[in-house]
Amino acid sequence: MQAIASAPGKTILFGEHSVVYGEPAIAGAVDKRAIVKIKNSNNNKTILRSFDLNFEAELNTQSKKYILKRGKPGIIRYILEALNMFHDHSPIEITLSSNIPIGSGLGSSAAVTVATLAALYRYHNIRFNKQSLANDAHKVEESVQGIASPLDTLVCTYGGLIYLSRRKTIENLRINFNTPFVIGFTSKHGNTGKMVRDVRNLKDSNPKIINPLISAMGHLTNSGKVAILNNNISKIGELMNINHGLLDALGVSTAELSRMVYLARKKGAVGAKITGAGGGGSIIALCPENINDVAEEISKYDNILKTRFTRKGVSSKVKWY
Ligand code: MEV
Repeated sequence: MQAIASAPGKTILFGEHSVVYGEPAIAGAVDKRAIVKIKNSNNNKTILRSFDLNFEAELNTQSKKYILKRGKPGIIRYILEALNMFHDHSPIEITLSSNIPIGSGLGSSAAVTVATLAALYRYHNIRFNKQSLANDAHKVEESVQGIASPLDTLVCTYGGLIYLSRRKTIENLRINFNTPFVIGFTSKHGNTGKMVRDVRNLKDSNPKIINPLISAMGHLTNSGKVAILNNNISKIGELMNINHGLLDALGVSTAELSRMVYLARKKGAVGAKITGAGGGGSIIALCPENINDVAEEISKYDNILKTRFTRKGVSSKVKWY
């Protein structure tokens, strides 16, 4: 028997950083996925392999330790944490494939966490629903990162465009948002924990200036929701540009991120902004037209990925042979 699960990556359209202070946010699942397959091991060892990400490791699920045979360890901690919480430690073989580039800001860790948990539940025949899965995935992320909003794991579980309200209720914006966009990402990874702490320090030392910016970001997200529901692409673009300026004011932009944002706008993106924590990491440029021009210009300096939102969230099954 083999348990198989997959989950999409995500991108934040509005509300990063302000969501930490209770403001609403909107994020969407993208059409790039992580796929996890789990089956019994036939040599008494728990092995994790990924040909796409080029790594292999032997895992000790009880001690959460591993021996790396090949590649970089990055994503392994999420898988080990998920196994430690929800697996009985019997030897298994885990295969991971993914076309979500690590460090692209597309939530590769959340997608891998959600897919690993769903495959584990299938493997052990544990009943679950999307809400319990998203909660468990959030616990895994928190325990690995120390800090995480529930947004990434919610989106990777449910798919579609998700509006997270001030009261932490979630609403799936049931709309076909089909406009393509470019994700531009630098090879310098942002450190989410550090960026969140930096913004908190700035806010604590300048409350009268920064608090209004954070609440403006909340208003902006709500206007973004209306624009999305009306499929008003030029308004969405305008709001993305304003959101970028506010994020810059919070100190999370870098020269590389700004370069990508301005190149994208120059080549015809209707809106471009940082997506995610900033300080390195990635931008999103909305391109109803000229997507190839935007992608080509950014790729002269940095990495790009052309993608779209998808309504498909987590999916899982068991295969008997
Ligand atoms: C990071 O993807 C988004 C932040 O708002 C942090 C969080 O929500 O956990 C910066």
